[in-house]
This record gives sequence, C-alpha cells and structure tokens, in this order.
Amino acid sequence: MLGFIGGTGPEGMGLAARFALTGELVLIGSRSPDRAAEAVARLRAMLPEAQVDGGRNEEVAARAEVVFLTIPYDGQLELLPKLARATAGKIVVSTVSALKVEKGRVFARPVPRTVFTEVPGVRVLVEGEGLRWLLEVTSELAPLVRTLARFPVCDLEVVRPSLAEVFRRGTVVV
Ligand SMILES: NC(=O)c1ccc[n+]([C@@H]2O[C@H](COP(=O)([O-])OP(=O)(O)OC[C@H]3O[C@@H](n4cnc5c(N)ncnc54)[C@H](OP(=O)(O)O)[C@@H]3O)[C@@H](O)[C@H]2O)c1
Repeated sequence: MLGFIGGTGPEGMGLAARFALTGELVLIGSRSPDRAAEAVARLRAMLPEAQVDGGRNEEVAARAEVVFLTIPYDGQLELLPKLARATAGKIVVSTVSALKVEKGRVFARPVPRTVFTEVPGVRVLVEGEGLRWLLEVTSELAPLVRTLARFPVCDLEVVRPSLAEVFRRGTVVV
C-alpha cells in the first residue's frame, strides 16, 4: 500500500497512476479531504481497474506501508512534523526538490540573510548574492547547523582559526 502525501499535484498523481497500473493499492493524500476525493475520482476515471483511495495526509501516512512525499519544498517544515508518528519505522521516499522553476527556468533557492542574523554568535563577513556566504562563528556550531538544515545547503566548509585566532573566533564558510 503506497501513500502519496500531497498526492493531488502532478508529481504525486503521475507516480500514483504509474504504481496503480502495476496493481499496487495507492492512497492519495491531501490537506483537504475534498481535494483528495477529487484526485481519487480523477485517477479512477483514468484507470478504472486501479485500486485507489485517499484522505487527509495524516490518515494516508498512517495507512500506507511506503510513504511518498510529493509536496513543494516550502511545505515541509509545517507538514512533516505532523506525519512523524505515522511514518515512524516506514520507508519514506521524498521526491521533493529544492529547486524553483519560473517560466521554464530552474533556480537554486538562496538562503535569506535573516537566517544568519537570527543565530546568536554568527556574523556575516561576505555576502555571496545569496548563494555562498562567509560567516564568522563565535558560538557553538550546532544552532547554526540546525538553522541551515531548513535550507538546501550543498556544501559547508568549516575553516579552523589560526593559532592567533583561537581565542578570538572560528570561521565557517557556507
Ligand atoms: N512535477 C514534476 O515533474 C516534479 C519532478 C520532480 C520533482 N518534483 C518535486 O515533487 C514535489 C511535488 O511536485 P508538484 O509539481 O506535484 O507540486 P505541487 O503541485 O506544487 O504540489 C503538490 C501538492 O502538494 C500540496 N501542497 C501545496 N502546498 C503545500 C504546502 N505548503 N504544504 C503542504 N502541502 C502543500 C498540494 O496538495 P493539497 O492542496 O491537496 O494538500 C499540491 O497539490 C515538489 O517538491 C517538486 O519539486 C516535481
């Protein structure tokens, strides 16, 4: 039994339809039971033989054996904690991509400057047009790393301070 969280969009519907064609029971999840029911009806109309059901994302996550995340990147922070208990111990497949598509062009999502200003002990030394940052970190790294975990960081380089700087500061390059 395969569940599709946010399965009402093109990615979830496309995957669910293909799995349904192989005989799998697919469950379409949504924040709204009405939208889930509409999507289920569309799939049934398209594939009359398919085994399809649906409901709220939380219900689908609880019923499914394997859970596919097919929601936009920005929706994860709010939705995923609500699914933690229902998905514990299950295989969770994320199709979520952090890329933003606008008018056919694909962009990486920059980390907003406010992210760094909200972490104590972090100072921006070089602002790299949102993509590459040089930061001075004079506190534990853990709060910064936890904050950055909300964003699609592809590289994190920690540069140890020189002996002369040891008692003054550490520097981290993002
Ligand atoms: N489409 C593709 O070809 C493709 C290919 C590769 C990867 N992906 C990735 O797959 C994911 C889904 O793509 P998609 O094109 O299907 O996306 P989408 O149409 O924008 O969203 C899919 C579903 O997610 C739910 N949703 C929207 N905003 C949400 C929010 N803030 N919080 C929780 N749920 C929300 C909506 O369902 P309800 O309103 O019914 O809850 C929506 O129908 C994305 O991360 C995308 O980057 C897509």
